[in-house]
Amino acid sequence: MRLLVFATLFGVLRDAGDALQIQCYQCEEMKHNDCSTPEYIVNCTVNVQDMCQKEVLVKPDGIHYRKSCASSGACLIASSGYQQFCTGRLNSVCISCCNTPLCNGPKRKRPTVPPYSHCSPWSPDMQSLL
Ligand SMILES: *[C@@H]1O[C@H](CO)[C@@H](O)[C@H](O)[C@H]1NC(C)=O
Repeated sequence: MRLLVFATLFGVLRDAGDALQIQCYQCEEMKHNDCSTPEYIVNCTVNVQDMCQKEVLVKPDGIHYRKSCASSGACLIASSGYQQFCTGRLNSVCISCCNTPLCNGPKRKRPTVPPYSHCSPWSPDMQSLL
């Protein structure tokens, strides 16, 4: 229930903004490759998809990545819904959201400023996996 309230509130706040388009990396379940290269960049739908989403899945054959544009409501619900599965262990799934252009791209060099920290908390285990 809390999630729904949060998402609704977020939607209201978002409507106050100007037309906005961001770009994100987009790929479907890349194996071992986090698809952070220019050929995976897409333009998100103006005013609808205002966030970039990144899913990291730990499978027996390695780490898989899924990335896309997303609406903030959908992304935040997904990331909180999957938070309990974000363990960094086998079969874990972590979903993170961010709202700057191409923010679901490569991991930043400086570990002191994790690009996703303001959206979704990573467990220390997961942090080292990325
Ligand atoms: C995204 O939009 C920009 C500017 O409108 C355009 O130049 C570019 O080709 C578009 N990229 C894709 C992948 O559609």
